[in-house]
Amino acid sequence: MATDSLDVNDPAGSMPTRRLTADAAGILEAGALLRAGKLVAIPTETVYGLGADAGDPAAVAGIYAAKERPRFNPLIAHLPDLETARREGVFGEDALALAQAFWPGPLTLVVPVAETARVCDLARAGLRSVALRVPASPVARAVLAAAGCPVAAPSANRSGRVSPTDIDHVLGDLDGRIAAVLDGGPCPVGVESTIVACLDGPPALLRPGGVSREAIEAVLGRTLALPGAPAGAAPVSPGLLASHYAPRAAVRLDAAEIRPGEAALLYGPVPPDGLDRAALSLNLSPASDLAEAAAHLFAFLRRLDASGAATIAVAPIPENGLGEAIRDRLARAAAPR
Ligand code: TXA
Ligand code: MG
Repeated sequence: MATDSLDVNDPAGSMPTRRLTADAAGILEAGALLRAGKLVAIPTETVYGLGADAGDPAAVAGIYAAKERPRFNPLIAHLPDLETARREGVFGEDALALAQAFWPGPLTLVVPVAETARVCDLARAGLRSVALRVPASPVARAVLAAAGCPVAAPSANRSGRVSPTDIDHVLGDLDGRIAAVLDGGPCPVGVESTIVACLDGPPALLRPGGVSREAIEAVLGRTLALPGAPAGAAPVSPGLLASHYAPRAAVRLDAAEIRPGEAALLYGPVPPDGLDRAALSLNLSPASDLAEAAAHLFAFLRRLDASGAATIAVAPIPENGLGEAIRDRLARAAAPR
């Protein structure tokens, strides 16, 4: 039973969480723990995921408990390749084209669940669709191969908090609540996967992420529909609650100047007015490189939050490419709670 990963009568948790090194032995151990129904945080190229055997309802229940995640919010199942993914979901023409173009990589496809699927009902929150992803991280793929089962893995943070991009972030939220964390170093992409629904209507963008809208539209040869758009659009991702990625500090977006005592999240070479009054400032990318900015985003938000400043002022970030995902996460961090 995976639920021994978390004693529901002791929600603060008291089991020691093992730190595994991402070498051959650590990867095999992570795979064995997953097969045994345990919870293991694993590195991916986007963020750390909190993994469990997606076919084991008790293990999946452990994910919801450890994260304090509402059970109506379904999980992404991770697979080592397209072939195994096709046992879980039904791939139409668009889904196949996207999988062939972007897998392995930071793209999640929501497709109708296949009759041969092993991913359990609880992992799908009872939906007739399933979210599938083949990650690019070599460590993640080695763990998936070692586990030999689809691995359900939401971001390895407590529900509503900033996603983890290194093991200290994971342990800060989940130490004592999970069996192990596999240390793969910092995550190179830094924002979660892009989620595209390929269901009845035209493909719809449910969440911007590590693959840009422009790149996806180029493969599809048409514009992505927006979630919540009328007439045949795909359902909004149940997990896209407005207030998410919430730091303790208030977040002020598109700040042209820094006010006294604010922490500052900068972008690009030009310093904003009032920078000398900042409590602490960090630049996502002095060279205006959106990929570099995405890789730093969550770690920098955590550091600025830890400065104790009441407000984090965020410089304007471009809307193109990975900028869409960065702006989406910042808007959620700024949303009223
Ligand atoms: O990069 C990522 O995607 C990371 C790494 C660990 O793979 N995972 C991640 O998972 O961000 P999570 O649980 O934090 O976000 C998954 C999102 C949620 O918003 C959920 O509502 C949505 O995917 N989702 C899952 N299944 C769905 C479905 N069948 N239909 C619509 N949305 C779905
Ligand atoms: Mg998440």
